[in-house]
Amino acid sequence: MNAIDTDRLLRELTEFLRIPSVSTSASHNADCRAAAEWVAGELRRLGCREVQFLASDTHPVVWGVGPDVPGAPTLLVYGHYDVQPPEPLDEWTTPPFEPTVRDGKLFARGAADDKGQVFCLLKAMQATANRPPVNFRFLIEGEEEYGSRVLFELLRREPERTRADAVLIADMAYVAPRWPAVYTTLRGLCYAEISVRTAKSDLHSGEFGGAAPNAHEELARLLSRLKTPDGKVHIPGLYAPVKRPSKDELATWKRLPFKEGEFLKHRVQAKALTGLKAYTVLERLWALPTFEIHGITGGFTGDGAKTVIPAEATAKVSLRLVPNQKLKAVERQLAATVRRLAPKHVQASVKFLHGADPATVKVTHQAFKLLDQAFREVVGRGTVPARAGGSIPVVPALGKGGAPVILTGIGLPDDRLHAPNEKLDLKQLWDGIRVFGRFYELLGSRGVS
Ligand code: BES
Ligand code: MN
Ligand code: MN
Repeated sequence: MNAIDTDRLLRELTEFLRIPSVSTSASHNADCRAAAEWVAGELRRLGCREVQFLASDTHPVVWGVGPDVPGAPTLLVYGHYDVQPPEPLDEWTTPPFEPTVRDGKLFARGAADDKGQVFCLLKAMQATANRPPVNFRFLIEGEEEYGSRVLFELLRREPERTRADAVLIADMAYVAPRWPAVYTTLRGLCYAEISVRTAKSDLHSGEFGGAAPNAHEELARLLSRLKTPDGKVHIPGLYAPVKRPSKDELATWKRLPFKEGEFLKHRVQAKALTGLKAYTVLERLWALPTFEIHGITGGFTGDGAKTVIPAEATAKVSLRLVPNQKLKAVERQLAATVRRLAPKHVQASVKFLHGADPATVKVTHQAFKLLDQAFREVVGRGTVPARAGGSIPVVPALGKGGAPVILTGIGLPDDRLHAPNEKLDLKQLWDGIRVFGRFYELLGSRGVS
């Protein structure tokens, strides 16, 4: 292993994290391009002979082809340079795009999800004494946090491009400190806006209150009927394809270092956990669908007071889907349920913004053994199989060619992805560079045929 020049690497990662590459908001289009440029520059410095922007009319997909090593295995590395919006800004101790180290942790939007981990996978190429004999392919996109529409289209058009012996994705976390993991499922996602309109325009609540319908009230009633207080999502047919994890799998979860009480106290930091009490928390997080309301707009939300009856209100919502559920079917079920729940005097509509099918990965392929060995050698413990509650939309498509998709990561459960004060522990990063460096080396010398 080469010595790691932590000062230089920290400077370089800081530069990457400074770029506010928020993909969901058009005002950051230039920043997303700047982040793509940063990735492209890095790929060139690492010796990629071909670096291209694909689908460059949006946030470009950065494509890189490493030096040719005839006969060596091909590894496709996937990641994303886009990040989620940083709001609420006043809850950050230091600003989201001014990366700051405190107590061995690097705080910034994207530190863990996923710029820091992309950085880790790239820098790992130089972690070993010799360049590992691997045919590297890089696919680093800029729309993951917004549904990966462009990359989907690209993979459909050009399935050959991403053909590989293995796919490596570091966009998740250890299951607990010192417990690296590989993930066997990802949940899917169905993201939608539910709107109701109740009148032609807003009305004075003194003149009309008592006799006119209120859009917020109708929307609240509708939303409250989509999930019962015990946590069951009230959409007919939704649970029909859902299979319980096997007894064996549930038993392995019992042995993970996960305590429901600690999860509540230190991670959720609320008064109580919610959801279907008949299932363990891990089963609720990993193997059951959800329905969440992300935000509600309409009417008056400015400073002060305005007496108005809103004519329109919109909720941004999403469902997480688990293996065997299909995005298309869930979209139909949600639309039908909203139609059925809306009273006749309310015009309700559903608009689907983006989504993803759930993903299932078998972790028996030889490539997983090599990663397990790399973690064992570097951090002293191999990978445990776990499931993930989050989503990465293109994973099912990347797995279609038959290559094993290795879902892993160097984050920790308390990294606060998508939330204020997101961070990455620097020790995790330095270890991660060694782990993936060793993995590349093992892959090159052992192969995975
Ligand atoms: N890296 C996450 C996915 C993730 C998070 C997997 C935690 C496992 C555990 C990814 O960047 C993400 O946030 N995905 C979005 C996808 C969506 C916007 C299409 C998600 O899960 O909300
Ligand atoms: Mn991510
Ligand atoms: Mn994310």
